[in-house]
Amino acid sequence: MKLFIDSANPQEVKKMWEAGIIDGVTTNPSLATKAGIDYKQAVNQILVTVNGDISLEVLSTDTQGMLREARALAKLNKNVVVKLPTTPDGLKALKILTPEKIRTNMTLVFSANQALLVGKLKAYIVSPFAGRLDDIGHTAIDVIEEIRQIYDNFAFETQILFASIRSPLHVKQAALAGCDIATCPYEILEKLVHHPLTDTGLAKFLADFKASGQKPLV
Ligand code: E4P
Repeated sequence: MKLFIDSANPQEVKKMWEAGIIDGVTTNPSLATKAGIDYKQAVNQILVTVNGDISLEVLSTDTQGMLREARALAKLNKNVVVKLPTTPDGLKALKILTPEKIRTNMTLVFSANQALLVGKLKAYIVSPFAGRLDDIGHTAIDVIEEIRQIYDNFAFETQILFASIRSPLHVKQAALAGCDIATCPYEILEKLVHHPLTDTGLAKFLADFKASGQKPLV
């Protein structure tokens, strides 16, 4: 499973890319605002840092506006994946962009039926928002598993991206359900690496060796 960072903050992206932890990036208008720096500058920095899929979202809500933005965004860099909302207008734009070979990430997906339409129209990525479903008392993993089953039934090539991650548990659920990608906030990526038993275990190994008075091998 590929891991993406869900961030428009170039410093966070750089740190995770250089550590070899991430394969790509997802952004959205809210994350652009949260990054607190000029959005264009942030995206340019991310584009030079990461050689992997970078999802950039359109701001238009009508098909024509989405098409105009999508074509311009795709020209920015070969790694750009255009994020479109999964609305009737978004699906119309997807139908036109697929034959143009513009790679799309259909966002704000909350149901298996929305994902079915996205798969039929051959999007590059579908993004079910798990955290937002769990936040309101649904069981997001059920929806994700349904999407996986539907895509496997019909050999859809659209990649399933587990979005809106709230915890390391979501990352494990994504991997177990056979998602192609999970996109994580910076803090969650950091949490994946750490375990308190690793830290205490290492400290004890070193303390035991030091107390033994043995010489290191090298
Ligand atoms: C994914 O591409 C979205 O940007 C993101 O995962 C949304 O997550 P949120 O629910 O934390 O805003």
